[in-house]
Amino acid sequence: MIIASTRPTRIGGAVGDWFTPIAEAHGGFTVESVDLREIALPLLDEPHHPMQQKYQHEHTKRWSATIARGDAYVLVTPEYDFSPPAALLNAIQCLAKEWMYKPVGLLSYGGVSAGLRSANQLRIICTANSMMPLPGAVSIPFAGKLVNADTGRFEPGEVQDKAARAMLDELVRWEGAMRTLRQR
Ligand SMILES: Cc1cc2nc3c(=O)[nH]c(=O)nc-3n(C[C@H](O)[C@H](O)[C@H](O)COP(=O)(O)O)c2cc1C
Repeated sequence: MIIASTRPTRIGGAVGDWFTPIAEAHGGFTVESVDLREIALPLLDEPHHPMQQKYQHEHTKRWSATIARGDAYVLVTPEYDFSPPAALLNAIQCLAKEWMYKPVGLLSYGGVSAGLRSANQLRIICTANSMMPLPGAVSIPFAGKLVNADTGRFEPGEVQDKAARAMLDELVRWEGAMRTLRQR
């Protein structure tokens, strides 16, 4: 699971904290949470195209190892200006082969649009890297209102819990199928 928002006052961390136990309870995966705010990648600063994997910088080598060990991803993404956050685009574009032939679930949130425009742009970007963005996504509207003011916990309710579990079911299926592509 990759948390895309890096803002100091973000709700993305709370969204990730909601999703993580659902993914762990699902049992289809060992869940690793990756926070782009902690990773703090500079803007793409490698001299070579990432397909060559001739990384010069330790931060890129660490990021490469983090993504390479994943079999499937869930992108937890807000919508900024109808788009994904720049930090997420940069994190994707710093690598190439590490993403290939792996499925990706889109967990988007925002205002009335539920982050769908961000998610739809990510579908194009993911397929450019031979990833399979799942048709079934988790899309959460008015996300800011779903943070409990007392506890800070994100509480979107049973409908979204069910959508998250359905997306994880699909992620397991696609991961199994795409494994054969990765082994070639
Ligand atoms: C720079 C910026 C641009 C935004 N643009 C949109 C937008 O285009 N559509 C939308 O629904 N919400 C937009 N929002 C509202 C965010 O979806 C909302 O603030 C959300 O909580 C951001 O996620 P975060 O708190 O995890 O960073 C924008 C917020 C920011 C900070």
